[in-house]
Amino acid sequence: MSDIIQLDIKQNVATITLNRPDKLNAYSMAMRDGMWQALSAVRDAPDVRAVVLRGAGEKAFCVGADLSEFGSNPSQVSARQVRFERDVWGLWKSIRKPFVAALHGFVLGSGIEMALWCDLRVAADDCVFALPEVQLGMVPAAGGTQTLPRAIRPGVAMDLLLRCERITAREALRVGLVHRVVPRARVLAEAETAARRLAASPGDVACRVKEALRRGADMSLRDALAMERRLAADCLERDISQNVNF
Ligand code: COA
Repeated sequence: MSDIIQLDIKQNVATITLNRPDKLNAYSMAMRDGMWQALSAVRDAPDVRAVVLRGAGEKAFCVGADLSEFGSNPSQVSARQVRFERDVWGLWKSIRKPFVAALHGFVLGSGIEMALWCDLRVAADDCVFALPEVQLGMVPAAGGTQTLPRAIRPGVAMDLLLRCERITAREALRVGLVHRVVPRARVLAEAETAARRLAASPGDVACRVKEALRRGADMSLRDALAMERRLAADCLERDISQNVNF
């Protein structure tokens, strides 16, 4: 595992740390490669039952794409090839295990988009959120144009994406972008507690509920309810076969 993305596993909870604090954890190509490795590892490790995502350093969870790398790719063709081979966001979307984001300081651009791939978002009271891409002449491409309107009201998502204004942690809580705001000193502990609780939940129920919500959002209500019935029935069958007492 690279230094730029750290992976620690303790008591069924993996912690992925964006570890480039001198650049405010700006998301670079090296970070993308590290994320690919870390996400593959947590997907495949049977003892990992929940994941915390955090940023190292005092000032930022992540300030978005590494702007210094723009235009420095070898070529559009090879950049696209790497993207197809390493579809980090597609990989992340495919992972059934629950993720909890511990957010602090600046959470900008792909910082927000990475938080949106997480299922629960705990924010420190010092968080500043913004999606500056449009002002920089870019389309958010870490899933944000799709994940944001699925997480919060589409009109509010449009406003954040088009106006690029900064919002505070309290405002983020009000619009539903984060689930909880806590004092800065407590943010990691709160996220870890949530992840440990998920890791301790019976069987793979947390994974199933995540799957029901995530997949259901793209289905008709009828198909989504059928999926929910299947997930619930599979769960029941497993409990009966394992002789779980109710
Ligand atoms: N890409 C690459 N490096 C970045 C970066 C980014 N997106 N954002 C910050 N950095 C680097 C700075 O270049 C600086 O490096 P240096 O010390 O080698 O010069 C270091 O991180 C610290 O940043 P600095 O700007 O000095 O911190 P600050 O506290 O004064 O300002 C921000 C913080 C977040 C307001 C400011 O860094 C900023 O606006 N960054 C760009 C955010 C952005 O537009 N992201 C793109 C989203 S698509």
